Amino acid sequence: MPNQSVPDRYGVVAQGLHWLIAGLIVAQFTLAWMADDLPLGMQKLAMLARHKSFGMTVLMLAILRLLWRVFHRAPNFPAGMSPIERVLARATHIVFYVLLFAMPLTGWMMSSAKNYSVSWFGRFTWPDLLAPNERAFEVLKTTHQTLSWLLLTIAILHILAAMKHHFWNKDDVLRRMLPFTKSEKRS
Ligand code: HEM
Ligand code: HEM
Repeated sequence: MPNQSVPDRYGVVAQGLHWLIAGLIVAQFTLAWMADDLPLGMQKLAMLARHKSFGMTVLMLAILRLLWRVFHRAPNFPAGMSPIERVLARATHIVFYVLLFAMPLTGWMMSSAKNYSVSWFGRFTWPDLLAPNERAFEVLKTTHQTLSWLLLTIAILHILAAMKHHFWNKDDVLRRMLPFTKSEKRS
């Protein structure tokens, strides 16, 4: 049964997964954009191989995170948040969870459709999800790119919202997601 008591803060596992995945997403954009600027060659392929390994790591962590979230309630939103802010915050979080699966899965399917194998840091190879298909590759590549812009947009809005809570509203929303801090007042 899920634990129904409402905590004041995110727990150490939820915080750890949040910041680990956030770091990996930054690495994903950095690697993809750097690879984009390179001519086809060993360096570009090595960078994309790392992008794929990190991306598959995000997929595994996203499964863990979703399972953890199902069984552990998040803290309530601060009392002062307006209904529209609550809807926006919840919608952003749901879209994030969807993208944490959709980004790796479209990347994995795109690679399969192009007949490129997806390895995990050279340790093992993931099975192909699709048979080679140039048309499917093009559609999946466009989908992966478009979703990456959506992810970037909501990440910027999410960071701005966290800053607003911390510096403008002066509530506990940022602190309760940060390790090594205390939530001094109930928000
Ligand atoms: C959270 C996970 C991921 C994020 C945030 C992400 C993000 C991105 C971004 C921003 C690009 C550049 C798009 C552009 O050119 O505008 C890209 C390209 C690419 N991604 Fe990912 N990606 C993720 C996971 C994956 C995975 C798991 C794979 C494969 C297994 C993958 C394979 C690729 C490939 C092959 C490209 C280059 C496409 C091309 O231009 O030919 N990605 N990704
Ligand atoms: C792209 C990277 C990020 C992703 C994918 C992401 C995703 C999420 C998700 C899904 C939640 C909801 C957690 C839950 O209730 O299950 C969340 C909460 C939160 N995130 Fe992020 N996040 C990212 C980066 C950041 C950054 C850089 C900051 C700070 C500047 C931040 C601050 C927060 C805070 C303060 C919360 C708690 C919100 C609340 O208590 O309602 N996040 N994040």
